[in-house]
Amino acid sequence: MRVANFFCIAMASLFIVATCGQASGGKIDGKAEFDIHCSGCHPDGGNAINPAKTLQKMNREANGLKGARDIVRKMRKPGPGMKSFNRKELSDAKAKAIADYIIKTFK
Ligand code: HEC
Repeated sequence: MRVANFFCIAMASLFIVATCGQASGGKIDGKAEFDIHCSGCHPDGGNAINPAKTLQKMNREANGLKGARDIVRKMRKPGPGMKSFNRKELSDAKAKAIADYIIKTFK
């Protein structure tokens, strides 16, 4: 009985922690999101499908993607060969976090 009660309380608090973490928005980990959604085709910021369009600054800027907004736009409306990501799949906040990660990481 005691043990069961303890288990209930433990599970309940885990649930609360998990839910609050989600609701408060927390801090989105751009790298983790990138690894989940993008790294398959863009390993280490490269491009496995179109080598002229890597995520390195040099390529990005040559292709007109100057800032985070341009990168987010690319996720929503990509060119040939890239999967498109709608808001359901990738919230604006997550897309922005990924874009910031790309700018910070692939120089
Ligand atoms: C199915 C493979 C695939 C996936 C998954 C993918 N991409 Fe791409 N990506 C491509 C291809 C192919 C291109 C070149 C498309 C073009 O011609 O515009 C590209 C181009 C880009 C570019 C433009 C690079 C440049 O130099 O012009 C950016 C930025 C980019 N992807 C970001 C992302 C992000 C962020 C994600 C994850 C949310 C992602 N991609 C997921 C295949 C992919």
